[in-house]
Amino acid sequence: MGQRIPEETVEHIRRSVDIVDIIQQYVSLKKRGRNYFGLCPFHGEKTPSFSVSPEKQIYHCFGCGAGGNVFSFLMDIEGITFIDAVKRLAPRANVDLSHIADHSTAEQTETSVMIAAHELLKKFYHHLLMHTNEGEEALSYLLHRGFTREIIEQFEIGYALPSWNAAVTFLTNKGFSLPLMERAGLIVRKSGEDSYFDRFRHRIMFPIHNHHGETVAFSGRALGNEDPKYLNSPETPIFNKRNILYHFHEARVPMRQKQQVVLFEGFADVIAAVQAGISHAVATMGTALSEEQARMLRRNASSVIVCYDGDRAGIDAALRASETLTEAGCYVKVAMIPDGLDPDEYVRKYGADRFRHHVLDASLSLTAFKLEYLKRGRHLQNESERLRYIEDAVKEISRLSNAIEADYYLRQLADEFSISMDALREQMTLHGKKQQTERKHERRETVILPAKAKLLPAFQKAERMLIAHMLRDKAIALTVQETIEGAFNIEEHRAIVAYLYAFYEEGHEPDVSSLLERIHDPQLKRIVTELSMMPMNEDISSAELQDYIQCVLNYPKEQLLKQKEAQLREAERQKDYERAKRIASEIIAMRKSLHFGRRGING
Ligand code: GTP
Ligand code: MN
Repeated sequence: MGQRIPEETVEHIRRSVDIVDIIQQYVSLKKRGRNYFGLCPFHGEKTPSFSVSPEKQIYHCFGCGAGGNVFSFLMDIEGITFIDAVKRLAPRANVDLSHIADHSTAEQTETSVMIAAHELLKKFYHHLLMHTNEGEEALSYLLHRGFTREIIEQFEIGYALPSWNAAVTFLTNKGFSLPLMERAGLIVRKSGEDSYFDRFRHRIMFPIHNHHGETVAFSGRALGNEDPKYLNSPETPIFNKRNILYHFHEARVPMRQKQQVVLFEGFADVIAAVQAGISHAVATMGTALSEEQARMLRRNASSVIVCYDGDRAGIDAALRASETLTEAGCYVKVAMIPDGLDPDEYVRKYGADRFRHHVLDASLSLTAFKLEYLKRGRHLQNESERLRYIEDAVKEISRLSNAIEADYYLRQLADEFSISMDALREQMTLHGKKQQTERKHERRETVILPAKAKLLPAFQKAERMLIAHMLRDKAIALTVQETIEGAFNIEEHRAIVAYLYAFYEEGHEPDVSSLLERIHDPQLKRIVTELSMMPMNEDISSAELQDYIQCVLNYPKEQLLKQKEAQLREAERQKDYERAKRIASEIIAMRKSLHFGRRGING
C-alpha cells in the first residue's frame, strides 16, 4: 500500500486543525450549547440534525448516521483517500508531506504521470485560447455563442492548434514518454512507424475531470461543421466513460446541499446552466447514462431532473435515462424544453430566469411526463385516437406501485376527458393483474431510519450507555473491562470495546477523534460517533453502572432461561416428567443466579 505517513504526524495534523473550521467550508453551522449544528451534507433534510463537537473534534448526523473525524469528513465529502485527506490538511499544521506520493505501485505511477500530462496540456490549450493570435478564431466563436470570459476561465476551456505536432512537441519538452502519452490518448502513433502525431487539432478543448477533480480526458469540438462535431479522448486507464460525468466534481457539494441534480446530455448545456447560476448540473459523456453514473448521482442527491434536448431523440434518451435512474433508486423528474430547442439554446434565447421557472421548476414527474409524451402526434379530438390514448395512459398508470399516486393520475385523466373514475379503475384492474409480477422488481427504496426513532431492547440500551460512558471515562472502561470484558451481546459493540480497551492500554486518554483513526469499518465509526455525541448525563453513580453491567451479563442467561422454559413446556406436553423435573431444577438454579445478580445491584 503506498508510503505511510507516520502515526505521530497524522496525530499532530489532526490536533492542529479545528474540525469546525474545516466543516464550515462546506456546511453553515450555528452554535447551540457545546456543539455546532447544521444541515447534513450527506443526506437531504430540512431541520438540522448534523452536529459537530469542537471538544471531541468529531461530527455526527443523527438523521443518517454519518460520522467521524476531520479526515473522514474530507474523505467522504471530497471522495478522496485517507492519505490525500491528511495531505490536504498538512499545510495547516505546517507539515510538509509533498514528498508522499498519492500512488506508489508502477501502475499507479503511470496513471499519475498520465494525469500530470493532462493537467499541463490543459493549461497549454487554455493559454493558446486566451492569449494568442492563433486562438482568436476559437475565442471569438465561443464569445459569439454566449460563453463569457469568466465561464471560459472557470471551465478551463482551451484550443488545440491546427498542427500535427504541437502537443507532441509540448509533451516531449516536458519530458513525457511518447508511448505513455499515446496510451493516455493524447497523441496517436503513425501506423508502422515509431513516430506520433496530435490527436486533437484545430478544436475547442473541453477538459474532463474525474470525481477527484483531476483532468483525465478531453473533448474537442470542431469550430465549423467538420466531422466529428465532438472528438473525445479514447478509453484509457484513467478515463472510463461509464463512470465519469462532466462537471461532477464541481457539482458535488451544491448537489448534496440541494439533494438534487440536473442531468444534461451535452457539455454546452452544463456550461450554459452554470452560467445561469445552476451549479448542480452534470452531463453524460455523449453515451447513454450508465448504471454506474446513476449510482454516482443517487449517492449524492435524492432527486434528478433529466433535462435533455426537446427533439425526438432527446425524449427517447430522457426516457431511457429515467429508467436507469429509477432502477438506481432516484426520484426522477423530466424537464421539457419547448420548440425542439436544446437546453443551451433555450437559456441563451430566453435567459436564466425563464429557464429556471418555466423549465426546471415546471419539470414533471416521470409518469406525468410519459402521459404528456403519449399525446404526441395524436389527434385527441378524434374519438378513436382519444380512446387509444386513454388506454395507453391507464396502462402507464397501472405500472405505478404507489396506489395513492396511481389514483392521483387516474383522477387527472378522469377530469381531463370527463370519464368516470369507476370506468378507469376497472380498466386499470385489467392491466394491474398483468403488471403485478413485474412490479416486484421495481424500485428498491432506501429508507434512512433516524437513530432516535428506534426503540431498543433494554440490554442493547445498557450496552450503548456503557460504551458512551467508556468513551468519556477511562476508569469506567476499566471497570467494565474487569466485569464484562468482551461479553457484549452485540457484535459491533464487542468490536468497539476491543478497540477501546487497546486504545486505553496504549496509555491514551479519552479522545474519540483519535480513537476513530484506528477504526476503519464505517458502521463501527457511525456507532462510535453517535454514542459520543449522544446527549447524556456524564455523572453516573456506581449503582447505575452496576445496573447496566448486570443487564448486559443477564441477557444471555435470560435467553437461555427462555429456551429452558420452552423445553420444560415441551417435556410436560410429552408427559416426560423425569426430564421436566430435571429442567425445572435447572431453571430454579438459573433464576437464583439472575435474582442474586439483581439484588447485588440494589444492595
Ligand atoms: P453544441 O452543438 O456545441 O451546442 O453541443 P451540444 O452539447 O448541443 O451537442 P449535441 O446536443 O449534438 O450532443 C450532446 C453530446 O453528445 C455532446 O456534449 C457530446 O458529448 C456528444 N456528441 C455530440 N456529437 C458528437 C460526436 O460527433 N462524437 C462524439 N463522440 N460525441 C458527440
Ligand atoms: Mn447545443
